[in-house]
Amino acid sequence: MENLMKKLEQTKTYIEGITKGRKIQIGLVLGSGLGDLADQITDPIFISYEDIPNFPVSTVEGHAGRLVIGNLEGKSVICMQGRFHYYEGYEMDQVVFPIQTMRMLGVEYLILTNAAGCINTAWKPGDLMLITDHIKLAPSCPMRGPNAKELGPRFFDMSKAYDPDLADIVRKQAKDLGINLREGVYMYFAGPNYETPAEIRAARILGADAAGMSTVPEAIAAAHCGFRTIGISCMTNMAAGILKQPLNHQEVIETSLMVKKDFTALVKSLLRAL
Ligand code: HPA
Repeated sequence: MENLMKKLEQTKTYIEGITKGRKIQIGLVLGSGLGDLADQITDPIFISYEDIPNFPVSTVEGHAGRLVIGNLEGKSVICMQGRFHYYEGYEMDQVVFPIQTMRMLGVEYLILTNAAGCINTAWKPGDLMLITDHIKLAPSCPMRGPNAKELGPRFFDMSKAYDPDLADIVRKQAKDLGINLREGVYMYFAGPNYETPAEIRAARILGADAAGMSTVPEAIAAAHCGFRTIGISCMTNMAAGILKQPLNHQEVIETSLMVKKDFTALVKSLLRAL
């Protein structure tokens, strides 16, 4: 699509003007409570979303809203410190614009992380889950509308949206670190409300292990434009209806902070292995 490509070219040119066109291998999108991994990036270049042409501007509390470009574990990375969610009011194409931008910059690998509600009753809050697949019943796809064939084909495969070979690497790294890594299916809900207990029961019947409000639009766009993607969820709470108590955002933040150490170690070892 001419218009999208024009915007992406403009955004790419802006970022490359700041990074002096340095090669970047890996894109990182950090979920709630996990954003300070970006603070460990060395020789960082910070670019606020609000300064980047065509980028939406982040509105969620606790999200810094900037790109951090630099080195982490010997790899050249570009990190979204704060992401865009559909529930904030952005359109799906805005949500994935930064992902497409990374691809335009030549980034090959994408690591998507998030906080999620735990649907699998054999697991507990604090567990980390490798995303092996997803379910999205919510309408609207980020690729809806004219196709930008420069990015990817009109109809595209989703059977390896979460790269199986990279998944093997994550499994091995987790084992070496002594992390009891779960794996399963992430189900996308548009939010911002948490799910109802009935929705969670339905999701379980459909084969979902975790519920969340991010990652899937980005993973779809990433599959479209040819990224090799890894998704990791932090189970921050048991999903609705499993326990007696109501869900709240505070619990999500507290659990993600509690797990930060393992989570950070896993992502860093993955970076080393890539
Ligand atoms: N549901 C949806 N998104 C979430 C949840 C949840 O229970 N916890 C953290 N993000």
